[in-house]
Amino acid sequence: MALDQQAAPNMTAQPSGALSGRVRAPGDKSISHRALIFAALADGESRIDGLLESDDVLATARAAQALGAQIERLESGRWRIVGQGRLAQPQGVIDCGNSGTAARLLMGTVAAWPIQVRFDGDESLRARPMGRVAEPLVLMGAEVSEARLPLQVRGGGLTPIHWKSRTASAQVKSAVLLAGLGATGETSVSEPSASRDHTERMLPLFGVPVRRQGLTASVQGGQTLKPADIRVPGDPSSAAFPLAAALLIPDSRVTLEGVMLNAGRIGLFQTLIEMGADLTIENEREQGGETIGDITAASSQLKGVDVPPERAASMIDEYPILAALASAAEGVTVMRGLEELRIKESDRIAGTAAMVRACGGRIEEEAYGMIVHGLGRPPDGGAEVETHGDHRLAMSALVIGLAAKHPVSVDRPDMIATSFPGFADLMRGLGAEIVG
Ligand code: S3P
Repeated sequence: MALDQQAAPNMTAQPSGALSGRVRAPGDKSISHRALIFAALADGESRIDGLLESDDVLATARAAQALGAQIERLESGRWRIVGQGRLAQPQGVIDCGNSGTAARLLMGTVAAWPIQVRFDGDESLRARPMGRVAEPLVLMGAEVSEARLPLQVRGGGLTPIHWKSRTASAQVKSAVLLAGLGATGETSVSEPSASRDHTERMLPLFGVPVRRQGLTASVQGGQTLKPADIRVPGDPSSAAFPLAAALLIPDSRVTLEGVMLNAGRIGLFQTLIEMGADLTIENEREQGGETIGDITAASSQLKGVDVPPERAASMIDEYPILAALASAAEGVTVMRGLEELRIKESDRIAGTAAMVRACGGRIEEEAYGMIVHGLGRPPDGGAEVETHGDHRLAMSALVIGLAAKHPVSVDRPDMIATSFPGFADLMRGLGAEIVG
């Protein structure tokens, strides 16, 4: 490391007393990316309320600006976006940072327009496969220079396709639908099982109907998006961390308000209820085209379960925290169908297994997933966990540390801001002892 570069100091979770309180869940990351991209495409002024101001989402905001939208942050979480109804040729490279969602959705978005755009990202994003998006875009007539970042997309003049996606990926599905907006005729995407459907739900709010039939979604090309006002619901993937800590620490009771309950996102909560978690959902209501509710978790002795592989897409980002919880459960938890985890922000099967083991848990890594042998109590902790720059591994390890006998530290805690910039403060507000 060069002398002028300082490694961010570690962050440490100390064994903590009971957690309690009610807090608002941070804005949903998937919805925040989409709201910015759709508003940038729209002709006129859109407002977004409750935008997640995380590093990933800010990368998309900068990209939207580079592509010709006027973007203004009015106050915390409140943004005004004026789109031109088309995209402009950007100057320079669009840097997607750590964000696979930014890179893949934006590749599809720009393919619809007669512009040439260079994309790049950090070391983790450069290692992730972009061929899964490039392949359908090229079939539609776009040029994509490489199967990994950095790469260039040259768009415009697309023909519609019916794409059969090999993986249940909302990023691939969204990229093809967004490219389809620039094709003449109907573009559709079928997936092997349902991935999150935020694109299909939000496009109609911007005046673009999406036809949905089973596992196929279709859009008609040649439409201009109308501006919209979007209130971003709370992120279930972020709410998972304080709720998990409350389950693990005796005498805790924590409520996360306004959490999105989209069926494609609540696999973790379904699994925790099967594990015997004291988890209640109240005050269900509608917000921004999604159902939201307030979720309360109280300390619980969990039991191991077999998590059905067909649930994987609805909790794909939640396996590290589930493994942390399963390591304190009684009995064995088996997680299958997790091949996609190998190509997330890090190899999350290897990283989760190493994290749980370092903290004193018992876990087996398999090609298809993980098997956790619960201890019937939280692991002892006393570890320095290597996060490989992965925000979800970092937060999962810190949750273990709060419930353990000995502190747990993580490296590169700055990466937590990828998805949950207020994590440490929110946790401290509930009574967690997090230092750094
Ligand atoms: C996301 C989709 C998921 C998820 C990611 C966000 C999205 O990825 O892991 O954090 O917003 O569309 P895949 O679509 O690649 O499974």
